Parts: sequence; structure tokens; C-alpha cells
Amino acid sequence: MINKKIVFANWKMNLDADSISTLVSDVSNKLKRVENVDIILAPPFPYIIKVTDMTKNTNIHVSSQNVFFEESGAFTGEVSPLMLTDVGCSWPIIGHSERRQHLLETNEMINKKVLLCTSNNLNVILCLGETFDERRQNKTFQRISDQLTRGLREVNQKMLGKIVIGYEPIWVIGSGEAARVEDIQEVHNFIYNQLRSMFPDSENLPRIVYGGSVNQTNIKPIVSLENVDGVLIGNASLDCEIFCDIVLTVGCLLYTSPS
Ligand code: 13P
Repeated sequence: MINKKIVFANWKMNLDADSISTLVSDVSNKLKRVENVDIILAPPFPYIIKVTDMTKNTNIHVSSQNVFFEESGAFTGEVSPLMLTDVGCSWPIIGHSERRQHLLETNEMINKKVLLCTSNNLNVILCLGETFDERRQNKTFQRISDQLTRGLREVNQKMLGKIVIGYEPIWVIGSGEAARVEDIQEVHNFIYNQLRSMFPDSENLPRIVYGGSVNQTNIKPIVSLENVDGVLIGNASLDCEIFCDIVLTVGCLLYTSPS
């Protein structure tokens, strides 16, 4: 089976009800003929139902930017995988560096989220990446390896098919300048080889996507790299034209304006 490429839009803590209505309606209209790319939108929690309603019966999937590692109970402020499924949200982002940094999420918490979500039939994107200091000190591979092995602890073959790995070098996020293609290639190859050695018998290794200042000008060389199965986009996903341009480049589609 040939895996489709993926484009994730992580809107982070941006937009409001009106701008989301406009963005979702424009994006779904412009991308309605795209069949060879998995298009996934991650709105802030209060807008998830609005986006799932607006994208019903379209080629667009809806993601959340976080999820909790218990199914229900006294966990004020948290959202369970079952609740996400209930409202048609099927792709939580887990372990984003901004949550690791500001909310002190650990690999152990992240692993619990991965296990609970995938055993409840949700797809997940597990994010990882090194800091600038770690890269400078030649600790990139050590850090990635650690996040990968601890994040995927006790994951079985069945769960594996539901996982996408998001490589996001922390220092380029929001900087306006993506990592160099040689560096992206090197880390994606490393992740692929590590996954292969962790799951030697699997025919279905997770897809690996890159995130960090992806835009309409750098998308082509990035997504053409080996072992780069798509992208995870922050800032550039807030602009309909730019986001659609990126998706169409990834899908290598000729787009003609809908009437
Ligand atoms: P930017 O595209 O704004 O750098 O954000 C990347 C990111 O963090 C996506 O999850």
C-alpha cells in the first residue's frame, strides 16, 4: 500500500469563530478535489465541533492540539480521547514541543496518551524534536531516539498503523526559516531507521512529517525528500491561499478555480 502524504494545519491558540468559519469554508472549497493528500486541521478546542460540522462529508479531517491520558473522571480542564471521537475529531496531536515546554509534559505522559488514543482507534501525531542547544552540542540523535523509544513504549503492531511521527526542530518553529534540507533529511532517515529497528517485522511503519516554518516557497524541496511523508504547519496554515498552495504542491495537483 502506498501511503498518502499528509498536511497538518496546527492553528495553535489563534483565530476566532468568525475567522474559522471563513477559513474552513474557503479551504474546503479550494481543496475539494484533492484526493492524494490527507488534509488535517487542528483548531483550538472550543472550535472543534464547529470544524467537524463544517467538514462533514469532505476530504478534510479534524485534529485536536492535545488530549488527556485517561478516559474519564476528575481531571478538571482535560479532554479525553472518547470525547474527541464523540465529536468526530480523529487525529490528536500529542507531545508538541510547546506543551513539553510550557505545560511540562513528559515522555511518560506522552506515551500514556499515545497508548490510550491508539487503543481507542484514534490516529495520533507524536511530535518530537531537539532544542538549538542540543543540536549545537551534537545531541540531536540522542534526544530524538529518547523521545521516540519512550513515546512509543509498549506500542504494538496494531497501534503502530495509527501513528504519525512529527519531527519539529524546536528552534526553527515560528522563526520564519525552516531547517536546512540536509538536516531534515538526516533526521528523517535517522527516525526511519530507528523505527525499522524498533519494529523489524512491521509492514506499516509510521509516516514521518516535518514541521518548522514550512511555507509556500520551501515546501517543494522539503516534501520531495526521502522519508518525508508530509508537513505540519503553524503560521502558514492561518492563511487560506498559502495553506492551499502548500497542499496543492504536496499533492502535485493542477488546481483550477472552482466556479
Ligand atoms: P510554524 O510553522 O509556525 O513554525 O509552526 C510549526 C509547528 O509548531 C507546527 O506544529
